[in-house]
Amino acid sequence: MRDLCGREIDYVRVSITDRCNLRCVYCMPEKGVASMRHGDVLTYEEIVRTVRALASLGIRHVRVTGGEPMARRGCLDLVERIHVIPGIETVSMTTNGLLLAGRVAWAREAGLDALNISLDTLDPDAYRRITRGGDVAQVLQTMDEALSLGMRVKVNAVPVRGLNEDGLTALAALAREHPIQVRFIELMPLGCGAALEPIPSDEIVSRMTSAFGPMQPDAQCHGFGPAQYFRPEGFAGSIGVISPMSHAFCGRCNRVRLTADGFLKLCLNHTAGLDVRSLLRSGAEDSALLDALREAILRKPLSHGFTEAIGDRESRRMNQIGG
Ligand code: GTP
Ligand code: 5AD
Ligand code: SF4
Repeated sequence: MRDLCGREIDYVRVSITDRCNLRCVYCMPEKGVASMRHGDVLTYEEIVRTVRALASLGIRHVRVTGGEPMARRGCLDLVERIHVIPGIETVSMTTNGLLLAGRVAWAREAGLDALNISLDTLDPDAYRRITRGGDVAQVLQTMDEALSLGMRVKVNAVPVRGLNEDGLTALAALAREHPIQVRFIELMPLGCGAALEPIPSDEIVSRMTSAFGPMQPDAQCHGFGPAQYFRPEGFAGSIGVISPMSHAFCGRCNRVRLTADGFLKLCLNHTAGLDVRSLLRSGAEDSALLDALREAILRKPLSHGFTEAIGDRESRRMNQIGG
């Protein structure tokens, strides 16, 4: 369906948990994170019902996110249930990859079409520091498994000044050997990210050009998100940038978000949305659910408002939203 600004909304990001097995410095505090109460989190039945309703409004692509989605038991069963909903064309997952090691074939069988793997550096010590304890070898194992199964794989890295900047070209070089997209995401000032210094996409592009030579725009479709892709000579894959801060893409935004506690978020940085959980739990009929979802999506905000004053700025952390 189209929102009131005329944007076609066909993509939902479904966060299934705010929990995570890592504590990336730009995302979660080291300790003292109060997780959502179990009873506040949507059950898989409730998620499936909501996605079915969204599919009948024109949602075709579902991305399962977290926290870390694989940290919730039964995540791949949910993938399987979403995969068979009429109207849903792709199911993908954004994951840190650790808990998928050894299980990618199962994920593929469940109907997962593509994986976006968060990986900020290849250096084992730096990875352990940034994630506060993660083992990069497991992430690389997941990536290898996915590639050998012919799955579409993208890598997400958030470049942060003084944190992972030395390893960015080594990370991008993964796309030279493998048919993957290595994407650099501008750090957004949400939660823990607000205290760190982002590296703007333009700087990333010029660093990549210095390292790999001139890059051609890569116009192939690599998913349904806001990244722009470039291909240096001799690369099997490509390098991407996601630039919410320096080149906002809100005018072509195609998505809404469902948080693990059942709130339909209309934009990453706005609190506006619909309390789907209350509707579901108050016994709403399918027609009432559809009407409420449609009304909410129509009113999707025009832009994220990170760089100007807005009245309803989001105070949830990234792990509570799902990226
Ligand atoms: P595909 O291109 O289909 O793979 O999806 P994607 O790039 O949107 O998915 P992914 O979960 O890998 O998101 C990558 C990054 O882009 C995350 O940091 C998201 O928070 C960011 N991002 C995704 N959608 C939006 C958005 O609507 N607004 C902003 N500001 N950032 C977004
Ligand atoms: N800004 C940009 N990206 C972020 N992510 C987590 N926190 C932030 C932030 N403040 C990224 C993760 C993951 C994706 C879903 O969001 O690295 O790849
Ligand atoms: Fe976990 Fe992803 Fe946040 Fe890292 S960025 S702490 S992997 S939710």
